[in-house]
Amino acid sequence: MNLAVFASGKGSNFEAIMQSVKSGFLRVSVPLVVCDTPEAGVLKLAEKEGVETALFNRGDFASRKDFEAAILQRLHSRAIDAIALAGFMRMLSAEFISSYRNRILNIHPALLPSFKGSDAIADAFAYGVRLTGVTVHFVDEEMDHGPIILQRQVAVEPQDTVETLAARIHEVEHELYPHALKLFSEGRLTITGRKVEITL
Ligand code: GRF
Repeated sequence: MNLAVFASGKGSNFEAIMQSVKSGFLRVSVPLVVCDTPEAGVLKLAEKEGVETALFNRGDFASRKDFEAAILQRLHSRAIDAIALAGFMRMLSAEFISSYRNRILNIHPALLPSFKGSDAIADAFAYGVRLTGVTVHFVDEEMDHGPIILQRQVAVEPQDTVETLAARIHEVEHELYPHALKLFSEGRLTITGRKVEITL
């Protein structure tokens, strides 16, 4: 399976995916990183890993349609089978998603459906929840919404700050995403409506 990672930021989840590929835990190849932010740390990390990067700046395209068409063209030219969104800060259109239907995964730093959106860790912390966590799910047309593959909880401790909580959530992310991708790449996930059945 050829997996493309889409990221806009630091790239710690990309790094975790690459570690699992290198250790042999995750048997996929990652030929391409797609990024929409020139300053994103993930670009340097990908270079270090020897993974091709494709930077698509939304501002360089007249419309979202053109922007996504350019991405799709690159995906096809690299024979990409599936996509792992890892902090990609741009919503993909329904048309784009339908061309990779049930082959796009996302990781979200909260227990969905709570705390959707780009500030989930801080939002959960500010709300005062005792438990938050991490969700890996299939991507559908709605933000942070598709069928859930795996979730793991993270307790909020009394002495936590947003930063200490975020650090523990990221640690869990780096374990959970490779795990979910492994199940997916081995064909062990069956989607029925909102439910994802895992074959052991
Ligand atoms: C992660 O917290 C992920 O859950 C969210 O964006 C963040 C990306 O972090 N979707 P990184 O760039 O992988 O370090």
